[in-house]
Amino acid sequence: MTHKARSSGKGARERSLGSAAASIARIRHYYNATIAHEAQRLEENAYRRLEHDMTMRTIVRHVPGGARILDVGGGPGTYLEPLARGGFDPWLCDLSDANVRVARERATALGLSDVAQRVRQSDATTLTQYARASFDAALALGPFYHLLEDTARRRALSEIVRVVKPGGTIVLAVLPRLHPLRYLLREATAEAFGVLDVLDWDALLATGRFEHVGFFTDTYLTDLAEFRATLRRARCRVVDTLSAESFCAFMDVPLCEWATSDEKYAKLLDLVDKTARCPEQIASAEHVLVVVRTHGSRRRGPPRGARDVGTARVR
Ligand SMILES: C[S@@+](CC[C@H](N)C(=O)[O-])C[C@H]1O[C@@H](n2cnc3c(N)ncnc32)[C@H](O)[C@@H]1O
Repeated sequence: MTHKARSSGKGARERSLGSAAASIARIRHYYNATIAHEAQRLEENAYRRLEHDMTMRTIVRHVPGGARILDVGGGPGTYLEPLARGGFDPWLCDLSDANVRVARERATALGLSDVAQRVRQSDATTLTQYARASFDAALALGPFYHLLEDTARRRALSEIVRVVKPGGTIVLAVLPRLHPLRYLLREATAEAFGVLDVLDWDALLATGRFEHVGFFTDTYLTDLAEFRATLRRARCRVVDTLSAESFCAFMDVPLCEWATSDEKYAKLLDLVDKTARCPEQIASAEHVLVVVRTHGSRRRGPPRGARDVGTARVR
């Protein structure tokens, strides 16, 4: 490599580090500013409850009881209570200081003061506060929505794999590539239509980057085939892939109008669970959940009831 090439390579690296830091700052700012909404998002209505309940079912199905679980990007601690009450030992870290504060307050208010002490502020790409193999499992239900650069996504994955014991489980959530188009159409507001008007759809499909200042924040839309390759490179074996909402994805308005009783909701949740692994549901999901086992597993194959048929290329 010539000196000129080396120095321009260094310059490019510095620019990329600078833009990665600026992106992280924007994401932190966004989640600090929206804490009031985030703190009750998954309790808001029956549609949001589906995401919560399907995520909990997935964790319970794949993670052994009593496991110590690190919720990376755990936000305001929505899953702390159900995990603790379900017999798990939950820990949490998040980029946003407001979310960390609310997660601690929430755990304390629920009488889970030992859990509150296990809530820390951390970037998923630098989990240096945690020792190698210190958790049985991890959740990453948020950071992969936002890490724009492939290097950052790989670094976060490698950090999460590092802190989980060999043979442990990681439950990841990603947004499929067409997510913003469906989301903006479903919003049906002048603001959302304004974004659709100016969005470069081809660039979104090609790169997965959605960086619309003023609407959400820096977002990465996953190509599931690429993500699976990244997971393989990190020596993670995919054991389950599903849509958190299945056939109800983006149908929040009619769903909430119909599912007005616990009985109706329970029926819906069971059908969502039964159909969530169909490739067509995964491709059109609002949130895709991917469960992996880290290398060194002694457990063979997915647990009973779990199937992985999510091989569709999500574009
Ligand atoms: C959509 S919220 C999801 C919160 C929670 N996991 C849930 O499922 O309700 C995304 C969360 O990821 C966090 N986050 C985004 N990028 C992160 C990063 N690089 N490291 C750690 N947390 C991050 C945000 O601060 C935010 O709390």
